[in-house]
Amino acid sequence: MSVTTQAIQSFQRIDNARHRTLIGALVKKLHEYINEVQLTEAEWLQAIQFLTKTGQLCHEQRQEYILLSDVLGISMLVDEINHQKSEAQTPSTVFGPFFIENMPLRQFADSIVVEGGQHRPLLIKGNIRNIQGEAIANAYIDIWQTANNGMYSGQDTEQQIDNLRGVFVSQDDGAYAVKSMLPVSYQIPSDGTVGQLLNYAKRSFWRPAHIHFKIVAEGYQPLVTHLFLENDKYLQNDAVFGVKDRLIVSHVSKQADVQSQALYGLDCDYDLIEYDFILSGV
Ligand SMILES: [Fe+2]
Repeated sequence: MSVTTQAIQSFQRIDNARHRTLIGALVKKLHEYINEVQLTEAEWLQAIQFLTKTGQLCHEQRQEYILLSDVLGISMLVDEINHQKSEAQTPSTVFGPFFIENMPLRQFADSIVVEGGQHRPLLIKGNIRNIQGEAIANAYIDIWQTANNGMYSGQDTEQQIDNLRGVFVSQDDGAYAVKSMLPVSYQIPSDGTVGQLLNYAKRSFWRPAHIHFKIVAEGYQPLVTHLFLENDKYLQNDAVFGVKDRLIVSHVSKQADVQSQALYGLDCDYDLIEYDFILSGV
């Protein structure tokens, strides 16, 4: 009996049928791959060392494996398989490696800029709705983005951990509003194993400017997505393949008025992004 057959059969006593399928198919495909490329011992060792180093780079605020999954296109493939059930819902995209849990709960129209100095405000507002167009109240909207230096808090030790992060809750009519500043295009981390891989492949490290959202509401499928800024020069060449046309938004320049002051606390010129997020039922 071949080693491949023996290895596959050795996992057949796993009780959980789905797990049995996952591990069996994984062993089968890995063996096929190794046969196809006729892997040498040196290459095998190099792969082990690469994966070991990738794991060693991971800690609470850095996830090199998610980054690896992203640049291999695996994150977007998993996303495609799991979340594209209806055209009516807001498209999802990669989660990315920079999410941090338990960020501060903020009020309607609060600013997530904790350390931005003087900056031009950005107002992001809209509604959380379901496919039928009904408002979704009490949706938790986690938001995170880079600072002007292209880095996220957690990645950049100079930033307070809650800078440009926060959790908002949609109002009774589904409305949400967040004050922030425009995000910038940035390069994904190049100092780890993923960086070595991209350099070796002569690939770009750039991601187009975007803001991350994770929206969770009772009775609905969680939505993990970004909003990308239109006209960014990296929209066609995202290092992690995450761009979808329906997630590209324009920002318009606005002058403060009585209404912006009263509703959003904006008394100077600002940029505005309006976007409704549509969630799908469970
Ligand atoms: Fe990002």
